[in-house]
Amino acid sequence: MARIDDKAGRVKGRSTTARFRQLSTTYGTKLKVKVISNEELSLGYYRLLVSNSALSGAAKAGQFLMLKVSQGDNPLLRRPMSISRIDLSRGEIEILYRVVGRGTKKLTEFAAGMSMDILGPLGKGFDIPPSKKSILVGGGIGIAPLIGLAEELLKGGGEVVVMIGGAAGNDVIGLPQFESLGLSPQISTDDGSLGIKGFVTSLLEGYISSITNPNDYLIYGCGPNVMLREVHRIASAASIECQVSLEGRMGCGLGACLSCVVPDKDNKYVTVCKDGPVFDSRSLSW
Ligand SMILES: Cc1cc2nc3c(=O)[nH]c(=O)nc-3n(C[C@H](O)[C@H](O)[C@H](O)COP(=O)(O)OP(=O)(O)OC[C@H]3O[C@@H](n4cnc5c(N)ncnc54)[C@H](O)[C@@H]3O)c2cc1C
Ligand code: FES
Repeated sequence: MARIDDKAGRVKGRSTTARFRQLSTTYGTKLKVKVISNEELSLGYYRLLVSNSALSGAAKAGQFLMLKVSQGDNPLLRRPMSISRIDLSRGEIEILYRVVGRGTKKLTEFAAGMSMDILGPLGKGFDIPPSKKSILVGGGIGIAPLIGLAEELLKGGGEVVVMIGGAAGNDVIGLPQFESLGLSPQISTDDGSLGIKGFVTSLLEGYISSITNPNDYLIYGCGPNVMLREVHRIASAASIECQVSLEGRMGCGLGACLSCVVPDKDNKYVTVCKDGPVFDSRSLSW
């Protein structure tokens, strides 16, 4: 019989496959969702819409899901995806994803009507303090969780500025979603094919250079680590509070395997999946 060692989060006496199955059901809420649609938005970028009212009712902007991307055990590990948008009235969740490898390629095979096995909602989402002006900075597919965040902030009557960066125009994701919320994102691309030529952090630097009261603002960032490091640096230099959503490599998504740990400012390790994925940028070691 398999035994779960709760402290270490390990299951003994079974194959790796059985261990991960056991961990998934022991530590997380496993749900079946129905796929509503799974469409390609631009080359290699997809929008997956799933329905499950228990999931949408429990989800919070900035949390993520662990998706079982195949019917069998190949690949064995679930893939983490941010909750991009939550539609409470329809009981639906939107996920935006980029095909980068085996798991995300498998994800494209899901069609409307199919059922998908999901763990979640997982992790800590964004902290939304009242009466702050929000600056949302997203790089590439990192824009995904910022769409739901913008929706949440606007519902609370907040002021929201959005900056999207991508390598090229094709990598600028989420524009229609932000526009449908009445927002007009500032855009940058590395090659200048859309928006200004340069990094999204240049947009951020330009915008905050005219800010006189940093306490009124909060920066939210999601994207590649190198971008987040720069967002943190700019925010710190301007004394503006900053929350970042990290995208570390994950095994379990449940705080058990420790494959996602990052050092905090005191050089102690924190898990991206359980302590995050959203952190106050000042709490981390960059
Ligand atoms: C909390 C969280 C939320 C995420 N949200 C989203 C999302 O909303 N949309 C989305 O498209 N992706 C998101 N990701 C990243 C996504 O999980 C990975 O791209 C995916 O797991 C890759 O699986 P794969 O089998 O296709 O690629 P693999 O075959 O595992 O890897 C292919 C290539 O991609 C690189 N890679 C894989 N995972 C990551 C990662 N996490 N960060 C950087 N490089 C990676 C590998 O090094 C390799 O070069 C998120 C990750 C985390 C941890
Ligand atoms: S992914 Fe296993 S501890 Fe975070």
